[in-house]
Amino acid sequence: MNFMKQKRIKRIGILTAGGDCPGLNAAIRGVGKTAIVQYGMEVIGFSSGYTGLIHKQYVELKEKDLSGILTVGGTIIGTSREKPFKIVTEDDNDKPDLIKRNYHELGLDGLVCVGGNGTMKTAHLLSNIGLNIIGMPKTIDNDVWGTDLTFGFDSAVFIATEAIDRLHSTANSHGRVMIIEVMGHNAGWIALYAGMAGGGDIILIPEIKYSMKKVCQTIEERYKNNKPYSIVVVAEGIDHPKSMSAARFLSESIQEKVDVEARETVLGYTQRGGSPTPMDRILATRYGAYAAQCIAEGNFGKMVALRNNELTTVPLEEVGGKLRLVSPDNPLVLKGRMMGVSFGDE
Ligand code: F6P
Repeated sequence: MNFMKQKRIKRIGILTAGGDCPGLNAAIRGVGKTAIVQYGMEVIGFSSGYTGLIHKQYVELKEKDLSGILTVGGTIIGTSREKPFKIVTEDDNDKPDLIKRNYHELGLDGLVCVGGNGTMKTAHLLSNIGLNIIGMPKTIDNDVWGTDLTFGFDSAVFIATEAIDRLHSTANSHGRVMIIEVMGHNAGWIALYAGMAGGGDIILIPEIKYSMKKVCQTIEERYKNNKPYSIVVVAEGIDHPKSMSAARFLSESIQEKVDVEARETVLGYTQRGGSPTPMDRILATRYGAYAAQCIAEGNFGKMVALRNNELTTVPLEEVGGKLRLVSPDNPLVLKGRMMGVSFGDE
C-alpha cells in the first residue's frame, strides 16, 4: 500500500476582459496547452471576463478544446467590461467576496487575467484580496504600462495600414484630402505606426498638440509643390468636439479654411476583428506559455511583459492606473519629421 500523499493536480483559471482584440485565442491556447501538457494542470475558462468570475460561469478547457483556435479572432470564452471593484449600486459591494468564494470553491491555484489597463487594475485588487493572479497585457491600443508591446497592436496596425494604402488611390485620382481615423483610446500608437507604414502626410496623435492652422498650411504647401492630395491619419483621442468624430471635425475644419475637397473614413471595429497577424500569434503564445510557467513557479501578483524582446514580469501594483503613451521624441516620430511628415504642431 502506498502511504505517500497523492499530490493534488493544480487547477487554474483564465479570463479575457475589456475590448476584444486579435490574439486572445492564441493566448488562451498558449496558457492552456502549456498548463496541461507541460505541468499536468487542469484549466477552466471564465465566461465574459470578470462577469463569469462573479457568477461562477465557466467552461472546462481540455487540450482538444484548444486546438484550431490559434488563428481565430475574438475570444472563445467571451469578454466584458465588468469592473467588480467599481461600486455603482449596493449589490456591487458583494462582488469581490463572491469572486473570492468562487475562486476557492473551484479549487483554483491561480488565475490568468488577460486584458488592458482596466483589467490589470482589477487584477491587482484581486491579488490584494489574496488570489494568485497573473496579468497578461493585450489591447490594440498598445498603451499598457510596463511592457514594450501588447498583442492585438500588430494586427490593428496591419489592418489600418491596408486601409490607408487603399485611400491613396482616391486621394490621388480626385486630388482630395483623405482623412482616416484610427482607434487607440488616449494613445497614438496605432496612428503613428499605421500612419508611417501607410505613408501618411499628416499624422495627428493625442500626445502631440496640433494646430489647425499648421494642418491647413501643410495641405496648402503640398498643393503648391504639385502634390494636390494629402493623407491625414488621425488618432481617435486627439482634442476635438465630442459631438462628432475626430475625422469629421478635421474634414469640416479643413474645408472651411482651404479650397479642397476632403473626405473622412472612420475605421472603427474592423481594427479589432479577425485573425491575428503572425507577430501577434507569436507574442500571445509566448505570453501564454510564460504565464503558465509563472503559475507553476508560484510567481504571482505579476503581469507578464516584454522588454527588449525578452519575457519578464512586472509587479501588478506598478501597472494599474498608468498609461504608456507615445513620447513626442519617439524615434519613429523623429524619423517621420526628418522625412517631412507633419505632426500638426507648430
Ligand atoms: O481599448 C480598445 C478600444 O478598441 C479603443 O481603441 C476604443 O476606444 C475602445 O476600445 C472602444 O471600446 P468599446 O468596445 O467599449 O466600444
